[in-house]
Amino acid sequence: MDKWQGKTAVVTGASAGIGAEIVKDLARNGIIVVGLARRPEMINEFAKEIEGTGFGKIYAYKCDMSSLDSIKETFKWIEDKFGVINILVNNAGIGKKTTILNDNHEVDNHFVDIINTNFTGLVHVTRHAYLLMKKSEDFCKIINICSITGHNVMSFMNNFEGQEANVYHGTKHAVKATTEILRQELIALKNDKIRVSSVSPGIVETDFFHAGKFIAETDKIKDVSPALNSSDVSSVILYLLQIPYHVNITEVIIKPVMEPF
Ligand SMILES: NC(=O)c1ccc[n+]([C@@H]2O[C@H](COP(=O)([O-])OP(=O)(O)OC[C@H]3O[C@@H](n4cnc5c(N)ncnc54)[C@H](OP(=O)(O)O)[C@@H]3O)[C@@H](O)[C@H]2O)c1
Repeated sequence: MDKWQGKTAVVTGASAGIGAEIVKDLARNGIIVVGLARRPEMINEFAKEIEGTGFGKIYAYKCDMSSLDSIKETFKWIEDKFGVINILVNNAGIGKKTTILNDNHEVDNHFVDIINTNFTGLVHVTRHAYLLMKKSEDFCKIINICSITGHNVMSFMNNFEGQEANVYHGTKHAVKATTEILRQELIALKNDKIRVSSVSPGIVETDFFHAGKFIAETDKIKDVSPALNSSDVSSVILYLLQIPYHVNITEVIIKPVMEPF
């Protein structure tokens, strides 16, 4: 990880779960990390653990991934403060439990939020991050946190009845496809400095999972126990950063051993 020491990373969805663990791990490896979330105070809270350890530094900044204005304003701040960035981890994501065909109009906004946060926001953040990466003379890495649901479709599964996945799977399929499009665009631009990969976890124990916002709380979930934890996913991010520059692992799938799909 020495090659990334003192470089600047941006991590979205940094206030909790997988994103928070990635922020801490990057900082522990001497990287300056900008954590973005709607609740930056939660990032500041765990940033104190890292402060004074002699490792990298964590900055928290309020950014709503579902708002282009918020993303523009955030990247203006990042550019003014850091000039360039070398690592982007697109991690922010949400899910809500309902069906596409639910005739209650209250759910209209759910779908807008999920699509804007998981997909549209990721595209806008990547475009802005790319401009700051281009200004760097050095190698850069973009990692998109996708999901096993970006590979398989399972709305009403035997093991997870009532999962009611709605547009979540669609957004994750879009993230997977967009990661590959970005890779091919970079080749077309003859840009051999920026690498792009996606990481697709199965079930990870986080608020997302526990709050039942997406996956119904059911005893059947115990079938896959133990689930992954956030540091399992973060260790994959560290691995992707450690490999030699001429190697690009474009997709990683990581699952709990007993996950059936
Ligand atoms: N947990 C799983 O089983 C699992 C499996 C596969 C993939 N994933 C993916 O992994 C990623 C992280 O999930 P997690 O399990 O760590 O979820 P989590 O614990 O609920 O954390 C989600 C993070 O996203 C941020 N976020 C949500 N909406 C946002 C918005 N509009 N603007 C900015 N930030 C926003 C949250 O911060 P604020 O609320 O402070 O804004 C929070 O930091 C997601 O992309 C998810 O789809 C999770």
